[in-house]
Amino acid sequence: MTEHLHHDFTLSTGFKTPILIERYFVVNDQTDSSLFTDQIAKYNPHIIGDATNYLFVSESLKSAITYSGNSVSILSDYDTHAIIRSEAGKNWHEFVMEMLNMHLYGIENLALIPGTIGAAPVQNIGAYGKEVADTILSVHCLNVSTGEKYVFSKDECQFSYRSSIFKKHDYSNLLITHVDFILSKVQSPKADYPDVETFFIEKQITNPSSHDIAQAIIAIRRIKLPDPQIIGNAGSFFKNPVISIETFQSLLLEYPTLPSYPVDDLNVKIPAGWLIDNSGYKGFRYKGAGVHDKQALVLINSHNATGRDIYELSLLIQHNIHQRFGIMLEPEVNILL
Ligand code: EPU
Repeated sequence: MTEHLHHDFTLSTGFKTPILIERYFVVNDQTDSSLFTDQIAKYNPHIIGDATNYLFVSESLKSAITYSGNSVSILSDYDTHAIIRSEAGKNWHEFVMEMLNMHLYGIENLALIPGTIGAAPVQNIGAYGKEVADTILSVHCLNVSTGEKYVFSKDECQFSYRSSIFKKHDYSNLLITHVDFILSKVQSPKADYPDVETFFIEKQITNPSSHDIAQAIIAIRRIKLPDPQIIGNAGSFFKNPVISIETFQSLLLEYPTLPSYPVDDLNVKIPAGWLIDNSGYKGFRYKGAGVHDKQALVLINSHNATGRDIYELSLLIQHNIHQRFGIMLEPEVNILL
């Protein structure tokens, strides 16, 4: 037993389905690299951050690892921008608000997203017209089997919609330790997402600042999305599917109100929430699990659900959406069977 290793540790999760971890390693910048080679390598632990975007289907896990350091520092300060380094264990929303207080801009549209700094690049978190990739300069990681350290430039991270190199199997033993961000001192508020536009029209705010944007997004998220502290959930359960324009046009014949967002000359993205909602699932309950009644893309722990209840509900929805629209929804949440 070392201070870095907890036996039979019960971790709470975004879905509020607690998971018992037989060996839970918690490391930081001071952790001796021999711990990785001598102990951690033997157990090949899952890297789990703060477990907000995970669905654990079984109730226990052999081993897991998380990075706990959470300090933030200014690496460089220029007239127009600053370079900020945050350790991976820092809470994402706290970071967003601290940067706004320091008049550093670019991540305000991502306010109130649950999870840590370390999880942000893995799935390239995004909301209300912005993705974290827009502000990332580099990502620092270490190999949990060898303790070796690596730095990935933004290009090397291969960011795309809700994805990055860190989601690929070959990179699954890389623990993110620090992320470097480039944040602007000049505000360029992005308020053209439909929900955000409507919010400012209703409030009669014509030239919103970045601070207004953060407040608007916090208010919108509180209305639409369940608070994971109260109702277990992991935000959107599925990704919005990208389909060919041909497939979209044939679907439009049957579903003329199906929305779409442009992707490129050949493809469009369509809202999975619309597909699920229009299949009658909003507010649906299955065992202890359910579909949120204000946003059909969000699966919830409605009353004492197990991870398996939520997983079975997701399979049911996936199957029925495939039968109805010919589209296979891909989970956005990390599922551990
Ligand atoms: N819609 C419905 N019914 C629903 C939900 C959505 O018809 O129950 C349709 C509506 O047409 C709506 C459209 O879907 O206009 C889009 O809905 P919304 O604006 O709520 O966004 P989303 O596509 O469902 C995505 C992200 C969210 C992010 C919002 C805002 C994904 C998988 N999800 O959701 O991210 O907050 O946009 O940018 O891309 C998350 O990743 O966990 C997450 C919450």
